[in-house]
Amino acid sequence: MCGIVAYIGHSNALPVLMDGLRRLEYRGYDSAGVAIFDGGQIHLRKSVGRIANLAEEIERNPVSGSIGISHTRWATHGAVTRENAHPHTDKSGRLHLVHNGVIENYQILRDQLIERGHVFHSQTDTEVLAHLVGEAFDRATSRNVASLVEALRQALRQVVGTYGISVVHADVADVIIGARRGSPLVLGIGKNEHFLASDVSAIVAYTRDVVYLNDYEIIALQAEGFEITTVSGNGADYQVSKVEYSADSVDKGHYPHYMLKEIHEQPNSVRDALRGRLCLEEATAKLGGLNMSNADLRSVDRIVLVGCGTAFHAALAGEYLIESLAHIPVECEFASEFRYRNIPLDRDTLVFVVSQSGETADTLAALRESQRKGHRTLGICNNVASTIARESDGGVYMHAGPEIGVAATKSFTSQLTIFALLGLLLGRIRHLSHGEGLEIIASMEKLPDLVARTLLLDAQIAAIAKKYAHSKSFLFMGRQAQFPIALEGALKLKEISYISSSGYPSAELKHGVIALITEEAPSIFIAPRDAVFEKNISNIEEVKARKGPVIAIGTEGDTALAKICDDVILIPDCPHYLTPILSVIPLQLLSYHIAVELGCDVDKPRNLAKSVTVE
Ligand code: M6R
Repeated sequence: MCGIVAYIGHSNALPVLMDGLRRLEYRGYDSAGVAIFDGGQIHLRKSVGRIANLAEEIERNPVSGSIGISHTRWATHGAVTRENAHPHTDKSGRLHLVHNGVIENYQILRDQLIERGHVFHSQTDTEVLAHLVGEAFDRATSRNVASLVEALRQALRQVVGTYGISVVHADVADVIIGARRGSPLVLGIGKNEHFLASDVSAIVAYTRDVVYLNDYEIIALQAEGFEITTVSGNGADYQVSKVEYSADSVDKGHYPHYMLKEIHEQPNSVRDALRGRLCLEEATAKLGGLNMSNADLRSVDRIVLVGCGTAFHAALAGEYLIESLAHIPVECEFASEFRYRNIPLDRDTLVFVVSQSGETADTLAALRESQRKGHRTLGICNNVASTIARESDGGVYMHAGPEIGVAATKSFTSQLTIFALLGLLLGRIRHLSHGEGLEIIASMEKLPDLVARTLLLDAQIAAIAKKYAHSKSFLFMGRQAQFPIALEGALKLKEISYISSSGYPSAELKHGVIALITEEAPSIFIAPRDAVFEKNISNIEEVKARKGPVIAIGTEGDTALAKICDDVILIPDCPHYLTPILSVIPLQLLSYHIAVELGCDVDKPRNLAKSVTVE
């Protein structure tokens, strides 16, 4: 995915664009560019690398003006080069366009354009769009806002794929045009100024009044107003929303990295996921957003959880949670597989798609595929304005607040908290008694404090990280609900520190994984005091017998682990179905501190972007 920011008003556009790009850098950070209209012509500045490089380029080669579009790129088509960085221009060189998404039929369109005499300067799919719009505009008899909008419409009718775009043209000096299909775009409404961005975090410092564009909508922004129409040429209704969070909540505060800040926000994010959802009187959970009566929920006999990456791991942990509390069979599917797999779903199967951003392309496609088959499909999302949140038939919001670090942390524990709530709700409709419901509620109410206590281990974990940071590979192992935590721990470590790491059920060790055990390859066992504790101990012994270093995550008060492991991190005791919410935290901290120790860019790991809006 990429990030777009555009500004039109009476102030200097550049600081707004650069500030917005810095806030959107989590969406992509391999190259960036701006196009600023100074009243006479449009000036283009681009550079490879981070926004800081673009800032240096602009310092060497200043630009200013009160209209501008900008982009931070995560490469899909074409290498990371200055030529491939956005904005791209049309044949005339007077139209500039930035794009987030993928034009699937770009090769055919490009060949046709070349035949018509267009010359391309990049390998991107985006450049095709710039040429198509420019060509349609050059055919128009007048040069005004309406004809530029119409040119965009004609271009968009030819493309197959996804887009969030923003366009400026030197011949129509007082407008920025935008459009979306499949890639988010939000309008910010200011006083005699307007903004367009991929995400509100880019513009929330300037306005909290926003309009989230829908697919196939086109917007024409001017300093004094805006008009929204559709690709098919109709007018469009819109609703002005208030952004709930402030610019401060998307800042790092006193933390060196967003990831660390977000790890430490977990007592609050877990509390917010629970807030107003525990009902003592009925000893159950209230999840009104599901839009389902108890009778509807009673007839559910199977649940399918769908997600990608960390959200998929949360689903795997959710499987244990829901099955142990509600005794309903749960299956987990990678969204990328679900969308093409044609999985048999019967009438009483409930499908949940899980996504922090609510914009992940595969998860969105899975939602649509499930709905196409007539299934009620619910969303578990953090971003309330996201496409998944809007298109699902109901669901549960995480209320975790903005998550900016590319490595998902607080969204994971919020997802697990929601699965615990779901397990309680579904369990209470089935076999759980009032008393059992109250016991579960009491444990859940303690969670935020237990999360806070777990975070006190930060300094101890930083010291352990220092000791092992230069290891070439790590194994993560756990049993039952701790197996998904092992997978998540391995994902966290590899994505931010680039150390090869993988997660397994502990018992799988002897089926092949044990071949990897050496003195240089630490194993991390998640072994809380639960029904399979002794089994984990046996597996740890197997590793120690082969001289492998072992770090164990255990339960406070445990003394057995310390006798056989090299390092032990003890987390607070809690019921087994809630332990994953605590046991993942030391793994988040461990991967964070290892990455810092290795000098890695924790919030912007190489090759990654916060959410993957392309297939
Ligand atoms: O926004 P989503 O939850 O749909 O994102 C899914 C994955 O792309 C995401 O969890 C990814 O795996 C994270 N980088 C993991 O830290």
